[in-house]
Amino acid sequence: MEYEIRHIRQDEWSLLEDFLYEAIYVPEGFEGEIPRSVIFDDPKCRAAFEGFGSLADDRAVVAEVGSEVVGACWVRTTDEYGHIDNDTPSFSISLYPSYRSQGIGTAMMRALLDELRDAGYVRASLSVQKENPALRLYERLGFQIIGDGFDETEWLMAKDLQST
Ligand SMILES: CC(C)(COP(=O)(O)OP(=O)(O)OC[C@H]1O[C@@H](n2cnc3c(N)ncnc32)[C@H](O)[C@@H]1OP(=O)(O)O)[C@@H](O)C(=O)NCCC(=O)NCCS
Repeated sequence: MEYEIRHIRQDEWSLLEDFLYEAIYVPEGFEGEIPRSVIFDDPKCRAAFEGFGSLADDRAVVAEVGSEVVGACWVRTTDEYGHIDNDTPSFSISLYPSYRSQGIGTAMMRALLDELRDAGYVRASLSVQKENPALRLYERLGFQIIGDGFDETEWLMAKDLQST
């Protein structure tokens, strides 16, 4: 599939709400639909997208197929999901379901990791549900588990950006 990875435009910042919803881990075998309200009701979710563009470390890339944005990968530094310290931006990422498992997520993460490294950031972080297969992607990209996240169902991971 042909796709382009590029920086998000300001008029697309609102799409991150949608991609945060898509990033919610849905366990295999789960029947039904996760209510969209969870991303607003949970302050940890809200912090990942609300007011994007207003914080110093906010950076995002999107994947475009044809003229449609089909995925996004972004970082913010907040006290919420993925927080390690105030100098370490945390990743969020998702693609619409039919665009998954074709290398686009890897390409988006590589692009943003390179950008953060070039900008001088020392580390990047993220949190992931322990059962989420995305864990493998993060490990391949060099993220390492540093402990539990907000509870024992999630891992907190970090990657050193300046060593390689
Ligand atoms: C996670 C995600 C962005 C990865 O992008 P992608 O383009 O599918 O990934 P790539 O094709 O580059 O790499 C494949 C890896 O992605 C991950 N992956 C693939 N499909 C996935 C899915 N449905 N859910 C979670 N992770 C998935 C796996 O780690 C896979 O590695 P594996 O083949 O060894 O299992 C994408 O699959 C997605 O949007 N998943 C649902 C949302 C999500 O889980 N976001 C992360 C929250 S922490």
